[in-house]
Amino acid sequence: MPESVQLISEEIEPIEKPPGSFDLVILGYQPWFLSPSIPINSFLQSEYAGILRNQNVLTIIGSRNMWLNAQEKVKQRLLDLEAQLVGNIVFFDRSPNLLSILTIIRWSFKGQKEATRFMPEAGVQQKDIQNADRFGEMILSAIQNQQFSTLHQQLLERDAVELQPGLVVLEKRGIKILENFRPLY
Ligand SMILES: Cc1cc2nc3c(=O)[nH]c(=O)nc-3n(C[C@H](O)[C@H](O)[C@H](O)COP(=O)(O)O)c2cc1C
Repeated sequence: MPESVQLISEEIEPIEKPPGSFDLVILGYQPWFLSPSIPINSFLQSEYAGILRNQNVLTIIGSRNMWLNAQEKVKQRLLDLEAQLVGNIVFFDRSPNLLSILTIIRWSFKGQKEATRFMPEAGVQQKDIQNADRFGEMILSAIQNQQFSTLHQQLLERDAVELQPGLVVLEKRGIKILENFRPLY
């Protein structure tokens, strides 16, 4: 947790820049402890993140339900790299917050993602994964027309990002607690 919250990076495997230029870079990541996960943070802090310089970047987040602070950190890093963030798509667990904690624990320890008689499916629901193809055509059309300035608006109109006010408040409180946490060792 401290490494995630304090954006402390780890060494990563070298990444070779593919030849040619990119139409669009799709950067998928998870939040951990309301912050970018250690793997994505380690990439963004590394020399290899230089491949994002001056590129159009679309972020895709796979989360439980609290990702705002993580995205702010990723946005800042993209700004530092002079990359253009052209859109964001968020996948999250639609189950009530406390229930989703229980199902994610069950998933982590027992590997069971499927719903049971008493508890819903863990993580991003299968239905949301299947409906994700609605974003594909918009992204393809933006690439073909090299027109990225309206992409995010189009994605928002198709509910690429949904905010739940109660969770926004909870996350704001949570990140303050995590940022002030000092390990005892
Ligand atoms: C250590 C750890 C911390 C996590 N912290 C958060 C978090 O702060 N906010 C959130 O929405 N999801 C959090 N998650 C859930 C992940 O973002 C992700 O949804 C989950 O690992 C399932 O992703 P997958 O389907 O890509 O495996 C956390 C997961 C792990 C393993």
